[in-house]
This record gives sequence, structure tokens and C-alpha cells, in this order.
Amino acid sequence: MLGPVSDEDLAVQHDPIMSPLIWDYGHIGNYEELWLLQKAHGKRLSDRELYDMYDASLYPREERPSLNLLDRNDATLYLDAVRRAVLDTLRGADLAGDDPLLAEGFVYNMILQHEAQHNETMLQTLQLMNGGYKPESSVELPSGGATVEEMVHVPGGEFVMGTDDRSQALDNERGAHVVDLPGFYMDATPVTNGAYLRFVEDGGYERRELWSEKGWEYIKKEEIAAPKHWYQPEPHSWWTERFGFDEALNLSAPVMHVSWYEADAYARWAGKRLPTEEEWEKAASWDPEKGSKRLYPWGDGEPMPEHANLDQLAFRAAEVGAYPKGASAYGVLGMVGDVWEWTASDFYAYPGFESFPYREYSEVFFGPDFKVLRGGSWATRPAAIRNTFRNWDYPIRRQLFVGFRCARDN
Ligand code: AVJ
Ligand code: FE
Repeated sequence: MLGPVSDEDLAVQHDPIMSPLIWDYGHIGNYEELWLLQKAHGKRLSDRELYDMYDASLYPREERPSLNLLDRNDATLYLDAVRRAVLDTLRGADLAGDDPLLAEGFVYNMILQHEAQHNETMLQTLQLMNGGYKPESSVELPSGGATVEEMVHVPGGEFVMGTDDRSQALDNERGAHVVDLPGFYMDATPVTNGAYLRFVEDGGYERRELWSEKGWEYIKKEEIAAPKHWYQPEPHSWWTERFGFDEALNLSAPVMHVSWYEADAYARWAGKRLPTEEEWEKAASWDPEKGSKRLYPWGDGEPMPEHANLDQLAFRAAEVGAYPKGASAYGVLGMVGDVWEWTASDFYAYPGFESFPYREYSEVFFGPDFKVLRGGSWATRPAAIRNTFRNWDYPIRRQLFVGFRCARDN
């Protein structure tokens, strides 16, 4: 990913909310050393100073460019050395014993997911960088499907929310608990650029009554009148800047780079609302015929190219309806891959939550400040997404590869 990026662009901070790319890169290696060598196996390669530099809780993002970070070559050597040592430990690791870090390979899976999450964060930084980023290669995507029903009905009743899995799932996904929901309707696909454009051209950003108080304050203060990276070279012609290069807006692809406040206002304009995360998870995961839960919308089989647009292969979202084989049991499309989806819900612990293996992964973020996002994007690695996976960010954030879909009551 970093091959085409200059040394200068690796070292500077491209946006106040992002780290320098070279920090994420070194941090991936140090986090792997901390958890897989030190905590799980009592081995240590690096000194205190290196650990401190890459500790996300010690230095705020704006101080990271002035740290004495490893440069590209040294970081590559460091990551390779850590990975070699880790592979040595894997041979003798007791994955069937009592150590909860090692049991069922949890800590190895956690590290894999951590690297995947920072890969996605780095792509967000590259999208924000001035000057353009050209990936070394990218794949073609299938085109959009035939028109589908606009909304899918999910009948009321109980389902199982969350999971008790201790191998892949992270602490905030546990434990499994029964939730009884009234019936609801869910958009069959994410909201498209075309639909969102109708909201924009209908004066959506000028109509106070469509916005929450905080949302209105935010868009007026920040002078926001369209999704991030959209622009209008002439009236009624909308373009977008993707990794620094201009292209006409694809009206059939999901809208991307909108804040929670914009998603909330659009839903009100459409006479709908955002789904709660319970509704999202039921629509994605519940198999009403079997009365059981699926790991992915299409079933338990790992994501394949015909199911979803994942894994940073395409550098864009596919047109909606492009993955009929990715449908959930209820027939909802595109729930995993393409764009993260904002939900109506604040990020809170499930009943019986226990922080593991450290409070700073999830627990310190619980509360009303963060909104939950579901489903992963084209930039999410398959190992780091499933129906129970919970992501979170502030409702003002637009750097994520994020869109949304709407719901409404029965
Ligand atoms: C789960 C994506 C919100 O990137 O802030 C990375 C994941 N935790 N390093 C983040 C995470 C520690 C986290 N998110
Ligand atoms: Fe991290």
C-alpha cells in the first residue's frame, strides 16, 4: 500500500484527525510485539522508548509527526523481525490451554484484525492527502443489479444479538443475548449517490426542520452542503474526488463520506429513520427459518469475491445490488462490504460485558459520544468483519468509507 507514497508524504500529518502514515506503520509492528511476543509469550525485542512512541494513549495525533519515528526502511525491518519472532512462537503456542489470550488463538486473531484496521485507517489518510494516490493495482467490480424492492420487511420477534465466541470476536461483541424487536422495514440496499443527490437538490442542507440541533450547528459552522469530496464543476453536474483524482459521480453506487448528522437528516427527508444496531444485526444475521444466527449475511462461509466488495481490492464501492449472493436471509443486500453503515445507536456495552484484553480497546469509548457503524467497507479486510462486528466514531466524522441505509416502523 505504501509503495507509491513518497517519504515526505509518509512523514507528515495530512489531516488533524489522522496520524502520519509512518506512525500507523510502526504502530502495527509494535502492537504485534506487545501482544504476541511480550504479553502472550514473555519475549521482548524493543526498548521502552520505542514502545512509548507507538502507544496510542501516550501521544495525541498532532504530536506524532515530531516523534523520532522509524523511517520506511527501519520500520520494514522492524515489522519483519517481529513477524519472524511471532511465527517462531506460533509453533510452540498452547492454543488449547487456560491462558485466555492464547486460547482458541484469540490474540493471534486480534493482531490480524488490528493490522487490518490500521490498513483501513491508512487508506482514509491517503484519501485525505493532497496530490493523489495511485494504487499499484485494483480490480474491476461487478455492475449494479436489477432494481430490487426498495425495502424489506423484517417481522417482529426475538433474535440473538452479539456472540459468545472467544476466538475471533472482540470484547465489545460479547455476550450473546436475546433481543425482542417489533417488526420493521429495512432499505434493501445502502442509499445511493443518486438518491442522496435528490436530497441535496431538494435543498436538504438548507431546511432546518430536517436536522437535529447539533447537526444543524455542525453543518452551518463547517459550511457543509454536500458529502465530503463532492464538488460541482457546473450547475447540476456533480463530481467526486477519489484518492485525489476527479470522476463523475456514479449515481448507482452508495453515497460515501457523510457524517452521522447528514445520514440522520437524509432519513428524515425520506420519511424514514436510521436503523438501530439491533435492527441492523437482526436483518444481517438472523435466519428465521432455522432460528439461528449467521456469521455473515449469506451464511457461515468466509467472504468470497461473489459475496461482497472487501479487502481493499477495488478502491471504491460497487453499485448497489452488485452482489445478489451476499443477500441476508431476509433478502437485504450489501450489508457487508462497500461502505460502513451508520446506525442510530450510541456505542454501549452489552449485558455481561467484560473488558478484554485491555480497557482502551472498547470500554473507554462506551457512552453517548460515539455512534455505532456496521458492516465494513471495500477497505475492510475479510478477517476484520462479520455480522457482530462493531465499529464506532464521532457523529461529525466523514473520513471513513461510510454511508448508510434507512429503516422505518412496521
Ligand atoms: C475500532 C477502528 C475505532 O482505529 O480507533 C486500532 C481500532 N484500536 N488500534 C481505531 C483500534 C486500537 C479502532 N476502531
Ligand atoms: Fe492501534
